[in-house]
Amino acid sequence: MKERILVTGGTGYIGSHTVVELQNSGYEVVIVDNLSNSRADVVDHIEQITGIRPAFEKVDCLDYAALDGVFAKYPGIKGIIHFAASKAVGESVQKPLLYYRNNIVSLINLLELMPKHEVKGIIFSSSCTVYGQPDKLPVTEEAPIKKAESPYGNTKQINEEIIHDTIASGVPVQAILLRYFNPIGAHPTALIGELPNGVPQNLIPYLTQTAMGIREKLSVFGDDYNTPDGSCIRDYIYVVDLAKAHVTAMNRILEDKQKSKVEVFNIGTGRGLSVLELIKAFEAATGVKLNYQIVGRRAGDIEQVWADPTYANEELGWKAETPIEETLRSAWNWQLHLRETGVM
Ligand code: UFG
Repeated sequence: MKERILVTGGTGYIGSHTVVELQNSGYEVVIVDNLSNSRADVVDHIEQITGIRPAFEKVDCLDYAALDGVFAKYPGIKGIIHFAASKAVGESVQKPLLYYRNNIVSLINLLELMPKHEVKGIIFSSSCTVYGQPDKLPVTEEAPIKKAESPYGNTKQINEEIIHDTIASGVPVQAILLRYFNPIGAHPTALIGELPNGVPQNLIPYLTQTAMGIREKLSVFGDDYNTPDGSCIRDYIYVVDLAKAHVTAMNRILEDKQKSKVEVFNIGTGRGLSVLELIKAFEAATGVKLNYQIVGRRAGDIEQVWADPTYANEELGWKAETPIEETLRSAWNWQLHLRETGVM
């Protein structure tokens, strides 16, 4: 058994896939989650996949005393992977203070508790949203940070700075900031996946719900962008590949392989796909025809962004491997599973 790792937001979409990969590589996992956007039975499903039940504590990362109690109850936690955060871009515009409090205070609590409990390192879930519309594509980690388009995006930028400043001040912790591109898909067992609350805001859950007949039509937001087919381009990365990046990053921290105490990596495939290309790929991969229509642009959308993942490939020794067809089939199988199990 390797070291004990705390995963905040471990019952969420990316968190649950990461817990599976951590356990598969021998780590012992303690999950904390307030279940504000996930279900407790995710813990059962993780156990079904890995044969190991992760420890679970229903705790809100805003609650400093309760978090302190988790470290006391599970001594020897060596690393933290911090997923717990609010993530709906539109909602963050309506409720900025909720986003600033949730996302920023949670991180501050963890950073204050780390030296107290001798936790060596933290992996922070950042986002390609910090680049805004990059001047050069594919975008590297050196690209300038652009003014955030939303309070949500701003919390990612501020949290990156908080980590830099804390470590620069001499607090004895290390960090890896992973800038995710667009995570999609579900575990091959279809036992865990993305479970959006209400009407999905993101492309893939909306698409698979439309294919299932839960939604009538997928709206493609704009076909008049300056891209080959006019629709927006993103770098869609399979959530299991993304989960594995966290294991590699945690190994790197615990094995003292970091080049500096804070490192930043782009976690993407290096390949940009337009919305229309993605729809075609989904239809080809699943044989399911999708009802969609082109509508106007969505406010705040970036025209095109995809990663240069060279630094992660070469320095971290991690690469996104799964073909898009397989990724899209996994998303569809998950939607089928939700139907079979009566969830939706
Ligand atoms: N899109 C549609 N129709 C939809 C939903 C999305 O055409 O119904 C398009 C969008 O216009 C965009 C692409 O699909 O071109 C992807 O949109 P998503 O909403 O899935 O994801 P974003 O690229 O907008 O990413 C945003 C934030 C990220 C955040 C991510 C997940 O910018 O920081 O949502 O919450 F991580």
